[in-house]
Amino acid sequence: MQNHLLKLKEQVLAAIAEAREGKSLRALEIEYLGRKGRLTAILRGLSDVSEQEKKIVGQLANQIKNDLSAAFRQAEEVFSGQAGKNPSFDVTLPGQAGARGHFHPLTIVLEKLEKFFISLGFLVLDGPELESDYYNFTALNIPPFHPARDMQDTFYVQPIAQQAVGQLVMRTHTSPMQVRAMQKYGAPLRVVVPGRVFRFEATDTRHDTTFYQLEGLMLDRDISLANLTAFMKLMLSAVMGQELNIRVRPGYFPFVEPGLEVDMSCVLCGGQGCPSCKQTGWLEMIGAGLVHPEVIKAGGLDPEIYSGFAFGIGLDRLAMMKFGINDIRLLRGAHLPFLEQF
Ligand code: PHE
Repeated sequence: MQNHLLKLKEQVLAAIAEAREGKSLRALEIEYLGRKGRLTAILRGLSDVSEQEKKIVGQLANQIKNDLSAAFRQAEEVFSGQAGKNPSFDVTLPGQAGARGHFHPLTIVLEKLEKFFISLGFLVLDGPELESDYYNFTALNIPPFHPARDMQDTFYVQPIAQQAVGQLVMRTHTSPMQVRAMQKYGAPLRVVVPGRVFRFEATDTRHDTTFYQLEGLMLDRDISLANLTAFMKLMLSAVMGQELNIRVRPGYFPFVEPGLEVDMSCVLCGGQGCPSCKQTGWLEMIGAGLVHPEVIKAGGLDPEIYSGFAFGIGLDRLAMMKFGINDIRLLRGAHLPFLEQF
């Protein structure tokens, strides 16, 4: 019975497709769906079947009847020239625009930085997120058991025994690329390396286990702290889109000598003091310094000939300042109502 019905449906649809004019359509409709039509006849025959089957077949027949009626209406519209002329549809209206994508706040900040450094002749490099203990620490003048390793809480990764390559770590900073870049490209050298870094850290509004840095390295003859501070001021002003002041304080990183912390004048209060800068007028943004001779040696170059500056800037902190975001975890939260604001 069901097969019979389905076959009938196919038949009718084929006939509709072949119909050439409205008149034959109407004849078809009467032939199949009319009071004495063939579908109606099948439904009448239902009195002979069991109660259970009646229910199933009845449902199917009704469905088919509806489908076919709709097909007839549609075909009729085509013949009467009414197709697409639904009076409530104004074809001159602009189409519905799809939702447009947009960049993540971190990407916006990163693109500004890359543009700035490319304009100054820097290479932009990528580095591995899973790094060897050697490049992450030892080559940066932080030998095993050096207390400076405690400054960066590290995710160590167990290497697969057969291919042991020494200890592996999720890189705790982008600085390992200083040595890799020196080894690959030699000097003079100008590179920036943006990338994701990882620390085994309890999270709060200002700390996360995963965040972004941009490393910078400029190596040549006679590079000095004056070059470094000039670049830092220009870089921060370029990203923030306003002229900013910087101040430098001594800072300790084993891979630079001397080492600096670079602060920028608070973008919210202009240096007057506000809750964002803890009333100091300054925001801590960058670790930097002149590249340590041991690091230049690890890079295969002669520290007697070459000197350079290096810096690492946290992109999350920068994005938070630029866009007034008060919790670093929002940046990786994949929370659309938050992200759609940018
Ligand atoms: N790698 C350091 C950090 O993550 C920052 C830094 C980079 C300091 C380069 C000096 C020179 O804290």
